[in-house]
Amino acid sequence: MSLVVAIDGPAGSGKGTVTKMVAEKLELINIDTGAIYRCVTLYMIRKKIELTDIEKIKEMLKSINIELRIVNKDNIVFLEGEDVTKKIREKDVTELVSSVARIVEIREYITNLSRKIAEGKNVIMEGRDIGTIVFPNADVKIYLDATPEERANRRLKQSIEKGIDITYEEILANIMFRDKNDSTSSVGTLKQADDAIYLDSTNLTIEEVVDKVIEIIKEKCNK
Ligand code: DC
Repeated sequence: MSLVVAIDGPAGSGKGTVTKMVAEKLELINIDTGAIYRCVTLYMIRKKIELTDIEKIKEMLKSINIELRIVNKDNIVFLEGEDVTKKIREKDVTELVSSVARIVEIREYITNLSRKIAEGKNVIMEGRDIGTIVFPNADVKIYLDATPEERANRRLKQSIEKGIDITYEEILANIMFRDKNDSTSSVGTLKQADDAIYLDSTNLTIEEVVDKVIEIIKEKCNK
């Protein structure tokens, strides 16, 4: 039997870090669906595919090759065999990704791919619509949130660590834009599932959030 833990929430809510740490502690496979949206976005930028060119998008989805692999405990993202883990976090991709994520054909493709990757495994999957669309029957659903300012601060820290050149103001503007885009999209809306547990991480440390998530998983699984 496989276990599915769904972690949803807005950009910068801590999903990525928390999911990775919980995965390590509980020996779950960590699947970052945002990375797949970013991969498709990078491909479209490189191939100069317009957001409105649905025919070309359909063609692209027939052949695009995206792989998520764990190498030395790190999640590495491969696009057409190339390691793009760092490239998909850069500004051009970050600015375009939530518009790409509004395209129905792309959402369907990534939903199916995410389900396929998780098949038969014990997974913790993070995204926006995992508990609502990808795995509506997930064993555990958590909606992780924090204020936009706190989320921008966290992203700034991560960007500095990764050597990405971006200011706090740029990050906050992008977070506000993506919040709006992600939550008003007619498909894959960023929305808490009715049966998800809401966790506000604004005033919690990463370790505190990780402990809380583990507590919730253990409690749900022991029922
Ligand atoms: O988690 P992230 O910031 O890397 O996600 C990048 C974008 O992908 C985000 O703006 C919305 C989109 N996304 C989505 O629509 N559905 C998901 N399950 C995951 C991400």
